Amino acid sequence: MQNLIDIEKITTETIGDTSYKLLIGGEWQTAAGNSTFPVDNPATGVVLSSVPDAGVRETQAAIDAASAALPGWSETPALARAALLRKVAALMLERRERLATIMTLEQGKPLSEALGEVAYAASFLSWFAGEAERIYGQVVPASAGNKRILVLRQPIGVVAMITPWNFPAAMLTRKLGPALAAGCTVVCKPAEQTPLSAIELGKLFVEAGAPAGVVNIITCQDPVPFSETIFKDDRVRMVSFTGSTEVGKLLIKQSAETVKRVSLELGGNAPFIVFDDADLDAAVQGAIDSKFRNAGQTCVCANRILVQAGIYQRFAEAFTKKVIELKVGNGLQPGTDIGPLIDLPARTKVERHIANATQGGARVLTGGTPWTGAAGREGTFWTPTVLADVTPDMLVSVEETFGPVAPLISFTHEDEAIRIANDTPYGLAAYFYTRDVSRVFRVAEKLEYGIIGANDALPSTAQAPFGGVKQSGLGREGGSFGIDEYLEVKYISIGL
Ligand code: SIN
Repeated sequence: MQNLIDIEKITTETIGDTSYKLLIGGEWQTAAGNSTFPVDNPATGVVLSSVPDAGVRETQAAIDAASAALPGWSETPALARAALLRKVAALMLERRERLATIMTLEQGKPLSEALGEVAYAASFLSWFAGEAERIYGQVVPASAGNKRILVLRQPIGVVAMITPWNFPAAMLTRKLGPALAAGCTVVCKPAEQTPLSAIELGKLFVEAGAPAGVVNIITCQDPVPFSETIFKDDRVRMVSFTGSTEVGKLLIKQSAETVKRVSLELGGNAPFIVFDDADLDAAVQGAIDSKFRNAGQTCVCANRILVQAGIYQRFAEAFTKKVIELKVGNGLQPGTDIGPLIDLPARTKVERHIANATQGGARVLTGGTPWTGAAGREGTFWTPTVLADVTPDMLVSVEETFGPVAPLISFTHEDEAIRIANDTPYGLAAYFYTRDVSRVFRVAEKLEYGIIGANDALPSTAQAPFGGVKQSGLGREGGSFGIDEYLEVKYISIGL
């Protein structure tokens, strides 16, 4: 199957001889001593390109550039800021094939999903272009007749962004859109596994006429010097991060030193509940869509599938049948549903979860082993797996698997499902399927999560506030709430 496409040719034609550089103050720059690190294709292990390995000096230069650009950008009329965002969104859609191919090459997701992600990423720029035009203040009635009170919303300042590898474009634009719309300038650090998509976006900002220093991009293999530099610097007023809860907690601690605002999109442990009265076909398809998007590597993926006893058997059979049909392979291969995992540690976690579940009495309905059909590096592909008879105390139910493994847990009563669903320190996304409209409201209100999909397995969209409660994060991205993160409130009391 892998011979049907020539991956090497696609890589050369798409990436070509592009030498990727840092974007600092509107200039493309190398790191000190020309230091670089390789970026490889998780499907094949082949090195795609190299990018600069920046350190403290380059991070400092990027903060200098962002600070210098701040007065000009924050005073640029909202309509002009919006126009830049719309232009970049249009360029992204125009170059969709190229951006998606690079994303699949460095991240592994199927090309169809990468194409979808480019459109999703562009939608955050378009949405926040509109929000830039609606940063309204207030006139508040004063307590004295000779006073007037005005409330302004102003950009918070320079923002540092640390983005993950699972959505190399969308997680960046979900931060860039509101930050730039608000009038902030930014220093971005994409994940070391997937920096190419971020640099490609940087190129589009330059092409669209972003003033020098408004968008700066730093790539580095070791995130620690970057993170220490931004947290020490008083000029950086906010850090926006998407990634693990473990790292998020460290960033909260680091933010204390200079009292920075932090916006954190962290880990999840999404329950996907199927009630007896659900539309079975819709629930099965929803579970496939939610669980196997990006090979199970999303923070909002169904992590535990809770099925009511009366429908359990039929659901397990229909779901397993569809899982067996999923096509694993290189994401560039047409028809691929499941690409590789990002790296070998990701596979180890999947193996550990499956072993723990089967040792505890879970049954493998399909999968359970590495997928060996792909040419190239062995080991990053995993056969889509369904486990039955899983219990809520197994690792696969307690930890975020971040892989193509679907554990099925049986429950009897609605209250029991809600109890199991809420019994986690996480609270990002939860899903449930039912045809009972009263239950829709009852269950949605009781689930302790920031995002609820009621008969909807793919709720993410630019217009809605994405974010979690409990240890899944702080703040919201997207929707009209998303821009608030990047604004300070100031009031002016005027004596007449
Ligand atoms: C994530 O996995 O963090 C993002 C997923 C989404 O935007 O739907």
